[in-house]
Parts: sequence; structure tokens; C-alpha cells
Amino acid sequence: MILLNLDTTQNPRLQRNAVGMKDALSRGSAFQDCPDRRETGSEKWDRWHQRDILPLWVADMDFRTPDVVLDAIRERVDHGVFGYTNAPPGFSVALAEHLSRLHGWSVNPDLITSTPGVVNGLAITARLLAQSDDEIITFTPVYPPFLTLPPLAGRRVVPVPLAQSASAWTIDWDLLAASVTPRSKLFWLCHPHNPTGTVFARETLVSLADFADRHRLTVVSDEIWSDLNLDEQPHIPFASLDHPAARRAITLVAPSKTWNLAGLGCAAAIVPDQMLCRNWRAAGGGLVPMINPIGYAAAEAAWRYGDPWRRDLIALLRQHRADAMAAVAAVPGLTCVAPQATYLIWIDCRGTGVVDPQAACEAAGLGPSDGREFGAPGFIRLNTACPTPLLQEALRRLSNAFTGSHEPTSR
Ligand SMILES: Cc1ncc(COP(=O)(O)O)c(C=O)c1O
Repeated sequence: MILLNLDTTQNPRLQRNAVGMKDALSRGSAFQDCPDRRETGSEKWDRWHQRDILPLWVADMDFRTPDVVLDAIRERVDHGVFGYTNAPPGFSVALAEHLSRLHGWSVNPDLITSTPGVVNGLAITARLLAQSDDEIITFTPVYPPFLTLPPLAGRRVVPVPLAQSASAWTIDWDLLAASVTPRSKLFWLCHPHNPTGTVFARETLVSLADFADRHRLTVVSDEIWSDLNLDEQPHIPFASLDHPAARRAITLVAPSKTWNLAGLGCAAAIVPDQMLCRNWRAAGGGLVPMINPIGYAAAEAAWRYGDPWRRDLIALLRQHRADAMAAVAAVPGLTCVAPQATYLIWIDCRGTGVVDPQAACEAAGLGPSDGREFGAPGFIRLNTACPTPLLQEALRRLSNAFTGSHEPTSR
């Protein structure tokens, strides 16, 4: 099926996505004139291959990474030798400078270790810092690997639901306190939080640090979304707090969400001491590959030179958030707390009475992420990092999904 009248008669890789053209002037062509990702092995676009379902699910963007990153990649390709590669000298320094510039956090580059992905980093902490049957506490709803990784490592996950109100997702401190047992070893924090887009404020982080300290938990803070705060509220790295729990914490970051580099497999862990740095790779047990040289080059360039592009992206994502919130508000029964960060919109569909919102959306030609995977049936998650006209069409289909006309009759 032809999607949004895109011309598929020529080589799709060479085509520009026609749906993005119209709005190019309003937001800059960097975010509207997007390559066609079909037939490129894109996980996002392959999922509903040949079906008229707009894929607004997995968290990557349809935008080209900025030229400053592409130039660095080209330069590394022109070098022509791609042997086994350690982190080049500029990698840790570029990240440390980025963290200092953007978040006011001063990090010793010697305590940065590279890792092929943040998910992989989480998995390593489960093996490195907890024993078999130990418990890892985390807030739900949450990015699915937070729930699936601990059992894969023989550890237990202890989900603590965030409290939902009309305007915010907050911590239920009583529930959190009640979740601790003598087997609790780690707290996996997702900050900013995926899928709700919550940015935890300083007072909240300090209370979490007190909690972790009281129970001798190590906090692992996944801050992969930290460069995409949409409002004035700053991102405060958990490990930057002046607190004993912060000095023991591990932080995971990557350039992949912000500059659309997920396919290059390059992330970093900031650890509290040299010993942990050394043990990190060994904990991979021979299963974790080295990072590829292109990933290193791209990450370093993104951190060093990518900020102007990041700011433009945020301006677009703010507009997309407003569009999505308006569309949600127009459908009776749909609600959503406005995300403070990320390009994700976490929608509560339970008020519509539709039993399977994911199925209803797919029947209406929209492919969100299913809340069930995040531990939250009745919710869906929309990814707004696509050209504006495509988002607008997706929001029209969202509305259709809950008006009844496109609902599957088998429910
Ligand atoms: C909170 C969070 N952590 C980690 C990841 C994935 O990280 P990586 O691709 O580096 O493994 C994602 C991707 O969406 C995410 O949302």
C-alpha cells in the first residue's frame, strides 16, 4: 500500500519524503525534508511494512542527524581503517565538556567508560552490582527493558507505580518505602522518565538519594533523554547531587536520542571509581562487543558541535507536543499529562471505554507503542519526532481510532 501518496516507483532511498515538504519553511528543512526510511531495515518503518499504518512507536526520529555529525562520520570513513577500536582520546573529554556546558556537572573523564548501548549498560549493572535473586526497584510505567532485563540476569524487578494526577506523575513515597526488602540492591531511575516525560526536580532527587542511602541501594540513573528537556526546568544529573548516594551512583547517557544515532550503538557510563571502570567490560562476560569507530566519531561530534541543531529540534518538539496535546484534549475520554522532556506522548485511553487501544489505533492506520509493554494496559505512547505533516495525519487517525468508526469489531 502506498503511504500518504509517496511515490515508490523510484529508488526509495534516494527519495525525499513528500509528506514533509510542505511545512519545510516554517521549521527548517532539517526536520521536514526527511529521507524515506522504507527498505532501509528501519525497525520503526518495517513493523507495519506494506500496510497503511503510520509508525509512531519505537523511540528514534525520522530526521537526518546534523551535518556536523555526518561530516565527522565521513572523515572517519575516509580514514579507511576499521580495526578493533578503543574509545578515542576525545570521546570522554567531549562528553565531560558537554555535561558541564549543558547540565553544569563536572565529571572526571577518567571515570567515563563506553558501552554499546544504555540498555546494555543497565544489564551490566544488574550483573555487576547485584547477586542472583537480588531486587532492582524501579518506577512504572517504564521503558520495557527496565522490566525485562532483571529476570534475564536472574534478578528480580520490583515495580513501584508512579502516582497519576491530571497534571503530573509523582512518587508515592509510602509505596516506595514499602517496596524495600533485605534483597533490594539497586534502584533503576529513568530520568527524564520514559514514557511519562517526567523531569525529576532537585528536591525529589534529594529525597530519592536519602531513600537510597537509608537502604544502601545503588542508584543507576538512565539519563539518555536528558538533553531533551522541553521547558525551562533544568535537568539535574542524579550523580551531580552533593549526597553520599550520588557519589555511589552510576549514570548512563548516549547521544542516540538527541541526535538520532541509535543504529550506531555508542553510549557511555559515568561510574564512581576506577575499579568499577575496570570491572565494567569484564562484566559483559565476552558477550558485549567493542564499540565501532563510526559510533565513536559520531558521538564525539554530536557532543562537541551538535548543540545548535539540538536547540532547533527542541523548538520543533515543543510545537509537536502542543499539537498532540490539543488532539488528545479533543477526543472525549483521552487524557495526557504534558511531558516535560522527550518526544513521547503518553496517553491514557481508559476513559474512552475502548478495551484494546493499540488495536483500535492500528485499525485506524496509526502505530503507537502499546502501554502493556510498559506495564500499563489502556495506555499508548506516541512518538512525535517525525515531519509535522506526518504527525498531523497521525493525530487525525488518533481521533478516528476512538470515534468508533475504525474500531475492530471483534473486541
Ligand atoms: C529510557 C531509555 N533507555 C535506554 C534506551 C535505549 O538505549 P540504547 O539504544 O542505547 O540501548 C531508550 C530507548 O528508547 C530509552 O528510552
